[in-house]
Amino acid sequence: MPFNTALTRQLGIRVPVVQGGMQWVGYAELASAVSNAGGLGILTALTQPSPDDLRKEIRRCRTMTKNPFAVNLTLLPALVPPDYHGYAQAIIDEGIRIVETAGNSPGPVIKQLKAANCTILHKCTTIRHAQSAIKLGVDFLSIDGFECAGHVGESDITNFILLSRARQSLAVPFIASGGFADGQGLAAALSLGAEGINMGTRFMCTVEAPIHPKIKDTIVGAQETDTELVLRRWKNTSRLFKNEVAVKAVEVERASTTGKFEEVAPYVSGKRGREVFINGDSNYGVWTAGQVIGLIHDIPTCETLLQRIENEAEETIARTSALMTSSQTHPLVPSEQPSGKVEPHMNNPQAEIWGVGKSKL
Ligand SMILES: Cc1cc2nc3c(=O)[nH]c(=O)nc-3n(C[C@H](O)[C@H](O)[C@H](O)COP(=O)(O)O)c2cc1C
Repeated sequence: MPFNTALTRQLGIRVPVVQGGMQWVGYAELASAVSNAGGLGILTALTQPSPDDLRKEIRRCRTMTKNPFAVNLTLLPALVPPDYHGYAQAIIDEGIRIVETAGNSPGPVIKQLKAANCTILHKCTTIRHAQSAIKLGVDFLSIDGFECAGHVGESDITNFILLSRARQSLAVPFIASGGFADGQGLAAALSLGAEGINMGTRFMCTVEAPIHPKIKDTIVGAQETDTELVLRRWKNTSRLFKNEVAVKAVEVERASTTGKFEEVAPYVSGKRGREVFINGDSNYGVWTAGQVIGLIHDIPTCETLLQRIENEAEETIARTSALMTSSQTHPLVPSEQPSGKVEPHMNNPQAEIWGVGKSKL
């Protein structure tokens, strides 16, 4: 049965799954494959050296899919900022009508895009930032929990809390981002009030992702504990794959007596991180990955992945709906409960610490 959510309706897609912007990964090969599979593929503007190159990449992507796709524009603090307005103008001129924005002070760029009738999905990690984005007129929020790859923010709130806070307090629809890889996750996100999900790391590990196969194998072999948070000291925390360089970066960050960013800069070089995806050496530089690596066990095509997610979500929703039954037919009506049931916290030393031990019962 097809999905029918605010996201599928407004964006004209079949499956409520978005492929988040990914620096050095979000090229036409991946974006078109995701869109062809029924989700929303996204080109990442800053993978292109100039607005003119972005124009060419948009045209290239259009030759690869007839379905809607979007462009991500990420605004990060930089000594010499990229020409954000130039990139936004290229997006508008090339007829792109869906844009994922992320990062700092997006106001002027969002204003420019909204004036051209673009639908904006703004990605953020706090409810406070989401509220500010709503004032700027965004159409969807993409709520990025602490599990996510890349910029996790500084408040460390995971999606179980963040998504429900979004449901309780946001006046515009939102999608759930960070930690999603399967249809069970999609069903959970829908239950919590989201209109769909956004995935990054899972899409890195697909046939069409234009990165070295050895990096995909590294993701398949990794566990949920294999990520590292770097740059916390400078309030620019990023979740990266835990390789030798990321571990060294954190060591230097913690040991530094000066707190000067220059000390850690050589370890977190974006240039070396980009090389990783080309040369396949997972220890060559730092690269971005989320905790969801622990849930990724294969390298499917985007078509297979999205079909599987659709099926799993449908099965999960049917299975959980079937858990609701009237008390007459419930297998565990009170009279049939096993006797001598012990409360889980009885005789549990931890329960004493929490102050709920036997003596208080
Ligand atoms: C390799 C990589 C690069 C990323 N680069 C960007 C980026 O340039 N801009 C952005 O907004 N998000 C970026 N992200 C974050 C994703 O768009 C998405 O929000 C995140 O991956 C969601 O978490 P997940 O990996 O658990 O699915 C990147 C993620 C990955 C894995």
